[in-house]
Amino acid sequence: METLDVKKENGIGWIYLNRPDKLNAINLKMINEIDSILKDFETDNEIRVVIFTGKGKAFCAGADISQFKELNTMTAWNFARKGRELMDYIERFMKPTIAMINGYALGGGLELAMACDFRIASEDSMLGLPEINLGIYPGFGGTQRLVRLVGKPKAMEIMMTGDRIRADEGERIGLINKVVTKESLEEETLKFAAKLLEKSPLILSILKNIILYGNDSPIVDGLNMESLGWGYVFSTEDEKEGVDAFLNKRKPNFKGK
Ligand code: CAA
Repeated sequence: METLDVKKENGIGWIYLNRPDKLNAINLKMINEIDSILKDFETDNEIRVVIFTGKGKAFCAGADISQFKELNTMTAWNFARKGRELMDYIERFMKPTIAMINGYALGGGLELAMACDFRIASEDSMLGLPEINLGIYPGFGGTQRLVRLVGKPKAMEIMMTGDRIRADEGERIGLINKVVTKESLEEETLKFAAKLLEKSPLILSILKNIILYGNDSPIVDGLNMESLGWGYVFSTEDEKEGVDAFLNKRKPNFKGK
């Protein structure tokens, strides 16, 4: 891969954004490569959690601004659509996703992190959607996802001032799940991932689906999906295993069936 480094280890699919000289700026090649590796992770039963992070001093400083000079209305629209479709794919990905934020997460970089289920950041990380300073605005889903994550007033402030915020402020407003020291970032992320790896991948997938679709629907539809799905879960082997393990005071061994 030209723009990524990829590793499969202990049930985790690692995606390292790998353009450190450009602070891992996202170009079309990177969009296509992430899409392709996710398709591989999706069908690989060994992979149960996906972690995104950046090589070098940044998570990702956003879309590659150097290519903007060549864009016109049609090609810019197309680029935004491709980026947005990737973020939608990440958000709806069947397996849990974590953004391990190791420095700047700006513009499209923060949009990628926001499409993940969880964001764990090192204390020196800086977050922001500074597109307004370029005379544009977020184009990979940020205008919608940030509002849903932190509410309208803070989201408008972040997008309309373009100001960067520190990781601890991100945690305070609900954008970041956990802030940790720079030295412990990987260890803490792995600890978090370990909790997910213990669970049934099948039930996690169904639960994620219900949370996401329910969040975008009228509550009555979400609640209905919840109870229908709850019934469905009782036809799975993992439900039998989980309940049996509890009743027999042992650890469950979920198989994803
Ligand atoms: N695109 C392309 N190149 C980028 C980049 C980006 N988004 N961000 C950084 N770089 C490049 C710099 O041009 C520089 O390259 P050269 O060494 O070849 O000059 C290299 O990465 C290192 O960057 P800096 O020298 O600027 O590093 P710094 O530590 O002084 O500053 C920074 C770091 C504050 C993150 C600064 O690089 C910066 O402001 N970057 C742009 C952030 C931004 O505006 N992001 C939004 C992009 S638009 C977008 O994402 C649209 C969308 O929603 C889809």
